[in-house]
This record gives sequence, structure tokens and C-alpha cells, in this order.
Amino acid sequence: MSQLASRHLLGLEGVPQQDIQLILDTAESFREVLDRTIKKLPTLRGITVLNLFYEPSTRTRISFELAEKRLSADTVAFTPSTSSVKKGESLRDTVQNIEAMKIDMVVVRHSSSGVPYYLTNCMDANIINAGDGTHEHPTQGLLDMFTIRRKYGKLKGLRVVLVGDVKHSRVTRSNIWGLKTMGASVALCGPSTLIPYDAEKFGCDLYTNIDEALEGADVVNIMRIQLERQQAGLFPSQREYTNLFGISKERLKRLNKNYTIMHPGPMNRGVEITSEVADSDKSVILDQVTNGQAVRMAVLYLLSGRKKEGEEGE
Ligand code: CP
Repeated sequence: MSQLASRHLLGLEGVPQQDIQLILDTAESFREVLDRTIKKLPTLRGITVLNLFYEPSTRTRISFELAEKRLSADTVAFTPSTSSVKKGESLRDTVQNIEAMKIDMVVVRHSSSGVPYYLTNCMDANIINAGDGTHEHPTQGLLDMFTIRRKYGKLKGLRVVLVGDVKHSRVTRSNIWGLKTMGASVALCGPSTLIPYDAEKFGCDLYTNIDEALEGADVVNIMRIQLERQQAGLFPSQREYTNLFGISKERLKRLNKNYTIMHPGPMNRGVEITSEVADSDKSVILDQVTNGQAVRMAVLYLLSGRKKEGEEGE
């Protein structure tokens, strides 16, 4: 039995505070394993995980794969371009055929919002959302919270500003739901064309002026500007976006003294963030990537219902 309220992780909206707390606390013990010479535990021996990535990924795909291997799970990678998807096989048939080979858990990334939920209706496996369309990217939200909590020792009461494409960013959504559940104060900032008309539903402070948004903030988490959206005319030009919303050293004077710079990657250096900021000692961008492995180990372990070594019953 999973110790979490759900046997799947589809998003952070509605996930209870005690479940987020349990994932973050569990990730702390796995984070310590990553600093050992031998980074391997037998926890998921005998469990097979399918990594079903219908969209490109560097960080999330490799991080999940390493997390699975470090927990001794068997892993299978699915690549649509070299599969029978090319012959027209549907998503449902694809996953049901792979599950017939005895799969226990599925990590899925897809360009369509709702695919992880859809899979819960046609498979018995535990489903973990690795990013679906514009909906959510829950393990990114969790690793962002884990990274913030490691630095400040808390989430409650911190002011976190999420900057960029609020309308289309699944990372922003997972950060909003997770951080608010954990008691942080969340502000959203971006061009009005990239803030959804119903953004009040998030219960966050909304800004279209970056300097006002950054005033007194502890953390600024900078979202990737999806340059493909420029064709849709949602912001006038890359240069104007950089002038109005790009995070440069000058802008950081408004933040609290002990501030933190975050970015989920991949970064457009010189567009939403300068290299000087990305590579500064206040940046935890690479820590986010390292911590992501520990968080994904925690999610895989908790959803599997397995016990850790030393916790086995009779
Ligand atoms: N942060 C993130 O999701 O990066 P990838 O697209 O490389 O997985």
C-alpha cells in the first residue's frame, strides 16, 4: 500500500500538505545516498518502470532513469520515433501491449494535457506525470520546493516570484499548487498576454511589472520563454521581453539580501536570464537538477508501496 493519498502522481493540485511533507522528508534521506561512493539501494528490486517520453527531455528523463537505477528497479525506455507509433498504433494499444510484458510503474511525458490521467483508466500500473502539455510537472514542483526548503529550512512565509509564461507553463502550475499548500506566498509576473484571464483562481499576487514583483522576494523562479510562441504573437519580440522581464543583475537589488535564483531548464541565456545571474553564487539551478534525482527516488519509492531496507516486517 502507498503511504500517499493516491497511488498515482498526476499533479500537485489537491495533494495534501502531509503528502508533500512526506515526499520532501523522504527525499532528504535519498539525497544523502547521492553523496555516497556507491549510490545504490535495493529498494525497488523486482519492480519494472516504463519511461514513456512522447516529448523531448534532458533533465527529467535522465533524472528518472538514474533514480530508478539507483533504487535497483528494472527500466524500459520508450521512444516514439523508433516504435510502432510510426505505423499508427494508438497510445492505448501501445501502453496496454507494453503493460502485458509486466510493467509496474509508468513515468510519462506528453504534449497533451491529461494523458497521465487517461493512462490511469487503461492501465493497472502506478502513473507518474513527468510533464503533460500545459497542465502540470509535479516532480519539478517538488524538486523546486525541496531545493528552497534545503536553503531556508522552511517554505512557510517565504515570498516566491514565478516569472514568465504563466499561461502555458506546467512548471509554474505545479509550483503554485505546491508552494501555496506549504504556506509560501506566491507572486506571478509576466506579460499580460501570457497571464491567463482567470489567473485569480490561483490565489497569487499578479504583476505585469517585474520590478514591483521582485520587491522583497526571497526566491525568483524564472520560467523558460517558449520561443515557439513568438509566432503566435503573444509577445512583440525577444528583445522587448528581455528588456521588460529578463532577470539581470541590476534587477536583483530589489530582492531580499539572502535571495535565491532558480530556473527549471532548459535556459534561454540572454533572453529570460543573463549568464551572469544564471552562473552567480545565488543561483541553485544545478542544485535543482541534483535534488531532482532524490525527489524522484522518493516519489518512486512511496508510490511503489515498498518498505526501505531495515523496515521489512516478518
Ligand atoms: N525541467 C525540465 O522539465 O527539463 P527537461 O525538459 O529537460 O526534462
